[in-house]
Amino acid sequence: MPIEFQGPGQVLVLFRVNGRPVSVSVEPRRTLLSVLREELGLTGAKLGCGYGTCGACTVMVDGQTVYGCLTLAIDCQGREVRTVEGLGEGEKLHPVQAAFIEYDGYQCGFCTPGQVMSAVALLDANPRPTPEDVRREMAGNLCRCGAYPNILRAVLAAAERVPAAEEKEG
Ligand code: FES
Ligand code: FES
Repeated sequence: MPIEFQGPGQVLVLFRVNGRPVSVSVEPRRTLLSVLREELGLTGAKLGCGYGTCGACTVMVDGQTVYGCLTLAIDCQGREVRTVEGLGEGEKLHPVQAAFIEYDGYQCGFCTPGQVMSAVALLDANPRPTPEDVRREMAGNLCRCGAYPNILRAVLAAAERVPAAEEKEG
């Protein structure tokens, strides 16, 4: 899908966010994170470091986690973006969100949306992870509060509740 230039320094980017089609006119230098937060009002993903270290900005593009602060919005042309706002169904939380609450997988909560997105992606790819799998796959999400033990418990508890792909099909 070609990018449409809209005059000096502006391009029209078309993509989907949490299942909905979105079109935004932005400067090519704008990050996905800034467009989500400032143009679309989706403030779940957070700006922490801004240079790919902390993971607070983690969202999914076509099912893969990315750092929103390092991803240009124009790179999302024609793609499906998923944010923490798109996980639940109405009032019903995603099992990972519910497990984070139940197991106190956060303190200040700043890192939590990114942690949750990484956990959802992990369980999509590996529905029955070991503790070591969780530590390794979520190493890109830092927590200044040091809530790691409870984050680990929450992800392992969620794994017990998220049906594995083959179970869903059966
Ligand atoms: S804000 Fe993107 S990795 Fe820290
Ligand atoms: S809960 Fe505070 S940074 Fe993780």
